Amino acid sequence: MSPSLDELRKFVAPEVLFGEDARALCGAYAERIGMRRVLVVTDPGVIAAGWVSPVIDDLASHGIETMVFSDISPNPRSAQVSAGAAVFSAERCSAIVAVGGGSPMDCAKGIGVVASNGGHVLDYAGVDRVAVPMPPFICVPTTAGTGADVSQFAIITDEQNHAKAGLISKSLVPDLALVDPIMLTTMDPELTAATGTDALVHAVEAYISNGAWEMTDDLALAAMRIIPRALPACCSNSEDRESQRAMALASLNAGLAFSNASLGAVHALAHALGGQLDAAHGECNALLLGPVMRRNLKHVAPERAALMADALGIEGSDLANRIPAWFDAFALELGIEAHNRGAGITEAEFERIARTASMDACMATNPWRPDVADLVEMLHDALD
Ligand SMILES: [Fe+2]
Repeated sequence: MSPSLDELRKFVAPEVLFGEDARALCGAYAERIGMRRVLVVTDPGVIAAGWVSPVIDDLASHGIETMVFSDISPNPRSAQVSAGAAVFSAERCSAIVAVGGGSPMDCAKGIGVVASNGGHVLDYAGVDRVAVPMPPFICVPTTAGTGADVSQFAIITDEQNHAKAGLISKSLVPDLALVDPIMLTTMDPELTAATGTDALVHAVEAYISNGAWEMTDDLALAAMRIIPRALPACCSNSEDRESQRAMALASLNAGLAFSNASLGAVHALAHALGGQLDAAHGECNALLLGPVMRRNLKHVAPERAALMADALGIEGSDLANRIPAWFDAFALELGIEAHNRGAGITEAEFERIARTASMDACMATNPWRPDVADLVEMLHDALD
């Protein structure tokens, strides 16, 4: 008798090395997994912060040649993936090391997919469409929140359609994540707030996802216990090592949770909105979290909402209103405000964003299925 597919759950994770100075082991691990000629994928900000040269030197000391590709913007575009894949092939690279935040890591995943499978990165948008595994791939994250260092996801901007395309495949999970909290010391408070809120949204959406199960619940709740205290502390003091370590761990927990339980309407809308506004992913998430959860919590079992509130440190009754209000207040505490951004968006554009979001792969695991009108309402609540 074959098992019911509805009853089965799976869990995919890379090897993770966690702790201060983990980055210094990149060369040793790269040698161990057979890397010889590496494309280092990064961006100009990470190079300026001084994180790339030591990694290159370390790889060289283990006999590994490197080429650097850094022509990557926030919200990496498909053309940047194509350019990186062309360098990978012209330089006869055989492995990838990403050093940076979500943009370089996602772009590196796209480069790896094209290097192994050919064609254009957007050919692989969707779920389980990457047939051939990526080349050997190490991530060294410089932010805490994106989860790209452990996840099956990559988000690439489709610049023709002003939208973001999601690639979701086991092939995108790195071979190794070197999670080093020291790398968080060069983030400014705005980047810390935006990326840290992304981690919070990963935990929340993974927890209420239709794909959630015991393993992802524990990881999501663990992240929710950490972030309310550690994230404001990281934003106000870039030398707070204890809080930085806590946020690196929260990002890891939330990343593993969402990679395996998937996400929901906050991310679906944030992808569509980010494509339209070219705004930071974490910022879009922060603005949308309260308004979307005001609707989503009506479809979450009260005992599960209570566990979530407990993890976040929210007390009292009427959790269906109290939890979204807490999310709104938390975004404000972190300095993330809409500033009437909806004013520049026409009603037709609101509808187009909502329609794009309704087709996003993340919508499949939202606890209920909002229609376009529901999504337009959420966008107005978030942006007006
Ligand atoms: Fe995210």
